[in-house]
Amino acid sequence: MTELTSRPRILSGMRPTGKLHLGNLVGALQNWVKLQDDYESFHFVADWHMLTTDYADTANLHANTWEMVADWLAAGLDPEKATFFIQSLLPEHAELHLLFSMVTPLGWLERVPTYKEQLDNIKDRDLHTYGFLGYPVLQAADILMYKAQYVPVGEDQVAHVELTREIARRFNSFYGRVFPEPQALLTPTPKLPGTDGRKMSKSYDNAIFLGDAPDVVSSKLATMITDPARKRRTDPGNPDVCPVFDLHKVFSSSETIDRVNRECRTAEIGCLDCKKLLAQHLNESLAPIQERRKPYEQNPQRVWDILEAGTAKARQVAQATMAEVRAAVKLK
Ligand code: TRP
Ligand code: SF4
Repeated sequence: MTELTSRPRILSGMRPTGKLHLGNLVGALQNWVKLQDDYESFHFVADWHMLTTDYADTANLHANTWEMVADWLAAGLDPEKATFFIQSLLPEHAELHLLFSMVTPLGWLERVPTYKEQLDNIKDRDLHTYGFLGYPVLQAADILMYKAQYVPVGEDQVAHVELTREIARRFNSFYGRVFPEPQALLTPTPKLPGTDGRKMSKSYDNAIFLGDAPDVVSSKLATMITDPARKRRTDPGNPDVCPVFDLHKVFSSSETIDRVNRECRTAEIGCLDCKKLLAQHLNESLAPIQERRKPYEQNPQRVWDILEAGTAKARQVAQATMAEVRAAVKLK
């Protein structure tokens, strides 16, 4: 099926963080699902990327891979249309990473904006490692291995795709034109705050997960930050500064959004009722996702089977690329 078409190819990876949350859904998954009909899609579990920051604690890596891929399937990614694979099962990625590391100037890596930022921000781990500095080179190998035309990513990853293009150009300049230059396919990412008002993130402990039952969603929303100036029920509020309203804008019907936008400002609606409305809409959005996940929970092996089949398919592409690369570099 996919083999016979000439749809442009996309590739994107996700670190195996375990169960996914609304931020992952809106920031990546929904977009992947939309793209799978028009693009030949490859999506992979970036477990080696996880090690670049979480090398000291790998106990949950395997379980987190299962949980994450089950959520991909639950969100509507279709293994008949898209190919899912596990990075670490394809040593070709490591080999290409090694060859790219020979031609990548250190300065390019030191200048990647996320590098300095994460070194400054992440203090509970030592990130002064070879692997962490080099991880955009690994990402370039992931992308170029499949000669993907497009890489669907959020704003934070655009610099990595740009670096990938530079590595492709430099490699080609030494060894002949092996790699096309991929482009970022920017995912429009609406603001998605967690219950504490900061960006929704597993590590902030403020996330609503795709698998959260209706009562869990309700109780998480009940604790969610609102317009801090609205202290009493009779105070008018301002939805523009309220994180609850940010979630309404993504998950509620336009009628509800309009109503909250109006009645909050006049104190006609209270925060409690406003959150109840949101819980209804959110639970309606999550119900089909949770329904689609059930067969995989009942038969966990199905997820591993899908990954195995996808990895076999990815391996064919990876082996072909590496044969070409070895010949170009005159290794054989
Ligand atoms: N670096 C990406 C992230 O942290 C994950 C990733 C690894 C990726 N390899 C990739 C994304 C290749 C797109 C293409 O989210
Ligand atoms: Fe926020 Fe809704 Fe309360 Fe207005 S009514 S402050 S939008 S939670």
